Amino acid sequence: MKRIEFYDRKKEIKEIMNILDTEPSLITFIYGPINSGKTTMISHLIEQLPEDYAPFYINLRGRFITDYEDFLNVLFEIDEKGVVDNVTEYARSILKDMGNVSGIPIPVNLFEQIFEKKDKSKDMFKYMEQFFVEISKKRTPVLIIDELQVVGDIKIDGFLIYKLFNFFIRLTKELHLCHVFAVSSDSLFIEQVYSEAMLQGRSRHLLVDDFNKEITMDFLDEYGFTDVEKELAWNYCGGKPIYLVELVNSGENRKKKAEEMLGMRIGQIEGLIEDAREFGYRISYGDEKIILSEEHILKNLEKFRDRDYLKASELSKSVKLGLIKANILFLDSVKQIIKPQSQLDLLAIREVMKDEKN
Ligand SMILES: Nc1ncnc2c1ncn2[C@@H]1O[C@H](COP(=O)(O)OP(=O)(O)OP(=O)(O)O)[C@@H](O)[C@H]1O
Ligand SMILES: [Mg+2]
Repeated sequence: MKRIEFYDRKKEIKEIMNILDTEPSLITFIYGPINSGKTTMISHLIEQLPEDYAPFYINLRGRFITDYEDFLNVLFEIDEKGVVDNVTEYARSILKDMGNVSGIPIPVNLFEQIFEKKDKSKDMFKYMEQFFVEISKKRTPVLIIDELQVVGDIKIDGFLIYKLFNFFIRLTKELHLCHVFAVSSDSLFIEQVYSEAMLQGRSRHLLVDDFNKEITMDFLDEYGFTDVEKELAWNYCGGKPIYLVELVNSGENRKKKAEEMLGMRIGQIEGLIEDAREFGYRISYGDEKIILSEEHILKNLEKFRDRDYLKASELSKSVKLGLIKANILFLDSVKQIIKPQSQLDLLAIREVMKDEKN
C-alpha cells in the first residue's frame, strides 16, 4: 500500500503561523466538516513548529469524562519520576528536555495534591497558569485541545466548559501568555460557541474545509490518477481527504470503490428515513425531545435537489438539528450556510430523493 504523504494546507498553516507570530490575545476555534483533516493538519503543524514554541496537544476524542478526576487524567501527563514541590522548578526542568508531550506535564506529587483537593478546578488552573508563566520565559506555549465538544455538556458544580473558556481568556487576552486553539467538528457545539456572549471579541474562527477542486486535482496527480479518474473522484468524493485516500488505496478499481462508498451512504440515509417513517426520528436538544417525521425530513432535504448548499435559515430548525446530529449536514456558523458533510452525502441525498419520488 502506498504511503500517503501530508498534502497542502498551505493557506491554513500560513494563517495559523500568522497568529503564532503575534502576541496571544484571542482563542482560536478551528472548525470544519467531519474528516476534513483538522487533526492531521494540527499534528503536522506541531511537528513543523520552530523551537521557540512549546506545543501542548490534548485530544479528548473517545475519552470518557464525567467528573474532574477524569478530566484531570486527560489534561495532564503525569510524570511518575518527577517529585518536585515547586511548579516553577518543574517547568524549568521540562524546558530542558521537551519531548513530544500529550498533555500538560505535572510531577506525580503535585498531581496528587490537586486530586485530593475539594475544589480541584481552582488548583488545576493555578498549576497550569504557573506552569505556562515559567515556560513562556523561554518559549511560547501553544495549548491545543482537540474535540473540545466532549466536555461541552459536563456539569460539575457549574459547566466545566465555562470555566475552561474563562481560563483560556485569562491565558490569551489578559496575560498574553499562551496561544489557545480549540478544535471541533461538531457544528452544533461551534454554533453555541459562536453565539456565546462571553466569547464575543475574545475569539476567532478558522475553517479547515475539504480540499478545493484545484488542490484535489493536484493531490490526485501525485498518485498517478488519469484525468478521467480525477473527475470521477471529484464527482463522487469532492475534496474530502479521507475518501480520496480510500480511492488512492483502492488500486485500479476506482469507479467500483466510489460506487461502493456512495451505496453505503445511501443505505445509511435511507435507514434514517426508514426510522423516521416507522417510529419518528428522535433527537434531544438540551432538555427538549424532538421527533422528526419522514415527510418533514424529505421536504427539507428536497432543497438540496438542485443546490449544493443553503442559507442556514432556509431549513427548519428541527430538521437542521437532527441531520447535523446524524452527521449528514454541516453548519458553518461563521458563514451561516448549511451543506451536506461531503459531496458523497450530497449525492446520496439526491439519490434518496429520486427513489422517494418513484
Ligand atoms: N492534508 C492531508 N494530506 C493527506 N491526507 C490527509 C490530509 N488531511 C487528512 N488526511 C486524511 O484524512 C484522514 C482524516 O483526517 P483527520 O482525522 O485529520 O480529519 P478531522 O477533520 O480531524 O476529522 P474529525 O472530524 O473526525 O475530527 C486522515 O487520517 C488522513 O488519512
Ligand atoms: Mg479530528
